Amino acid sequence: MKQSRTRFFDTLKYQFLCCHPLHCINWEVIPTHLTWEQQQELIEKTVFHPLNQKQPIRISYQLNFLKRLIEQLERHCDEVHDIVYESYCSVQQRVAQDTTEKYAYKHYQQAALDISLTLRESKSFVAEGTTGLCSWQASIALADYLAHNTDIVNGKCVLELGAGTGFCGMILLQCSDVRHVLITDGSYECFELMKENVRRNFGDAETCDDGYVVKEKLLTMSVLEWGAVDEMIWPNSFSTDIILAADVVYDDTAFDSLVYAIDYVFKMKEDACEMLLAATVRNEYTLQKFLDLLSSWNFQYVDRNVTPVDKCYFYWDRTTPVKIYHIKRHS
Ligand SMILES: C[S@@+](CC[C@H](N)C(=O)[O-])C[C@H]1O[C@@H](n2cnc3c(N)ncnc32)[C@H](O)[C@@H]1O
Repeated sequence: MKQSRTRFFDTLKYQFLCCHPLHCINWEVIPTHLTWEQQQELIEKTVFHPLNQKQPIRISYQLNFLKRLIEQLERHCDEVHDIVYESYCSVQQRVAQDTTEKYAYKHYQQAALDISLTLRESKSFVAEGTTGLCSWQASIALADYLAHNTDIVNGKCVLELGAGTGFCGMILLQCSDVRHVLITDGSYECFELMKENVRRNFGDAETCDDGYVVKEKLLTMSVLEWGAVDEMIWPNSFSTDIILAADVVYDDTAFDSLVYAIDYVFKMKEDACEMLLAATVRNEYTLQKFLDLLSSWNFQYVDRNVTPVDKCYFYWDRTTPVKIYHIKRHS
């Protein structure tokens, strides 16, 4: 009983801190008849969590989370603790002042992997002319896949294209023995936010040219516009073994430049290179069009299974499926 309550509290804590969509949270497994002490513990692990106190997640999310929690507690407990209602009122008082705020924090925690990542992200999916100022479900699914399959990246140089906030690369740095992660994006705004988030999480680490050395692993950042990959100045001693890309296959006008960049990097390594592409399947036709284009450039791809929900380290919205492709090129 205590074990299942602790598991529920911890899951809810992780989901709250990374703003996991409320419709994806399994509220049905909430333990019934929580005592006042247990309700207080639940609030301390979520809204009163020190990370949220210091770097708050979206206020509107906190308010809706508490609304939903109160509904559940009123249904399943004899009495709801005052602290729950009080925290709702105090969050509500901050709503008006928060509406002008364009950014909020998300905290991605995973005790089993000793991972803790805090990102400042845009509250809108599209801002400053880019979709990359917030982390998308495909990058979370890809990071989870790699956290379960670290042998793919251990000892390797990893290049991430269209990295947005840099979430996937930063998780990789924490959970694997990767040699060098180079996170890139074509948008200058993304690059600036990525730099800020890297500094936020690894600012205490030793610095090197364009980045940091974290436990002997390198993390560097660069602007890389796919169509201008031939102008890229590569970091010293970096030679791509694996390319990563998440949620970059949605706009077919960008397909030619993306395949051009992939081909360019593969050619630099005489095809001794691999790629993992995570795609959110919003439109099967668009995705297939990209896969067909890859085939026409002699790439081969294999579908890999995303981590099932009961085994995942991180949480993402699974309403729209994510597919992960392993891409190689054999002549
Ligand atoms: C939907 S976002 C995905 C961001 C991140 N990979 C994630 O999944 O959270 C797509 C990203 O691709 C980048 N992008 C789009 N076109 C690009 C191009 N031609 N060159 C480089 N990056 C590009 C955008 O700036 C944006 O960061």
